[in-house]
Amino acid sequence: MADRDPDLIADAHDPAAPFRRDVLAGLSQPRKVIPARWFYDWRGSQLFEEITDLPEYYPTRTEIGILKACLGDVAARVGTGRVVVEPGAGSAAKTPLLLDAVAPSAYVPVDISGEFLREASAVLQARFPALPVLPLEADFTHPFALPAEAGGAARLGFFPGSTIGNMEPAAATDLLRSMRHALGHDAMLLIGMDLIKDRDRLIAAYDDAQGVTSAFNLNLAERINRELGGTIPIEALAHKAVWNEARARIEMHLEAARAISFEAAGQTFVMHKGETFHTENSHKYSRESANLLLLAGGWEPLAHYMDPDCLFMVVLARAILPGMTA
Ligand code: AVJ
Repeated sequence: MADRDPDLIADAHDPAAPFRRDVLAGLSQPRKVIPARWFYDWRGSQLFEEITDLPEYYPTRTEIGILKACLGDVAARVGTGRVVVEPGAGSAAKTPLLLDAVAPSAYVPVDISGEFLREASAVLQARFPALPVLPLEADFTHPFALPAEAGGAARLGFFPGSTIGNMEPAAATDLLRSMRHALGHDAMLLIGMDLIKDRDRLIAAYDDAQGVTSAFNLNLAERINRELGGTIPIEALAHKAVWNEARARIEMHLEAARAISFEAAGQTFVMHKGETFHTENSHKYSRESANLLLLAGGWEPLAHYMDPDCLFMVVLARAILPGMTA
């Protein structure tokens, strides 16, 4: 055991250990940051569902509209009988549209949360009784291998929701590359990417009038209090959504309205008035920047599908073969 990382041994007994590690590391930075993946506890997932119904939050309904319009063309290009691989537990609204259109030989949702994964898989299995549904509990931001039962058919990756936008370009490239490796040389990818648009519209989508996004953001601090023995004074924090033009991203922050100090995960932290926790980046793309990101990740864009107002884009791409020069 001497060569084992003691943190890894502790993890087996303490399900909160990865959250604690990320929070301690993030709050110890000169600029305090909490990774966005920790938004999605039960309450956070519920609030995100509410966000997708908000009048200001255009991405979800726009992407569903694009999918309904483009899936015929997508099916003609990708054919039937592929193994569909979806990073994330699967979207109840979007995944059935795709599965209906491309008649896959198997469906592999990949998610770090076994609980969400099993629940979502059971719902899909009930909707598609004859389809082999093969959930894979894994962190899709690291290289992963598909289950052997998926068989040898060519793969189609499905990555909707502009989830890729949570990652900085370097990490997004790594993710696309590891998907390229996991899915194989004859793979294709259908990916949703949110488009750059006017600033007011972008900010409204992340700072809605009903305050649901604010509640979603604050839930992260509440989660630290609930799960890591935190004493963060929630009433002293204000939700902020900022458009970072140079980096083409919406940033979400929680800003201290006054100087505060608090405990979290057994340590004491202080924040001066105006200091923030940086909780999320949501990168936006042009057609050109999306193409460049995909190419850097090993995927050649084949078709771009947009809504009439150019709010959102779904891109179909194919794996670039090693050594392919033309
Ligand atoms: C799920 C990451 C795509 O960035 O739009 C929504 C999350 N955050 N409102 C996004 C989110 C605030 C969402 N993604």
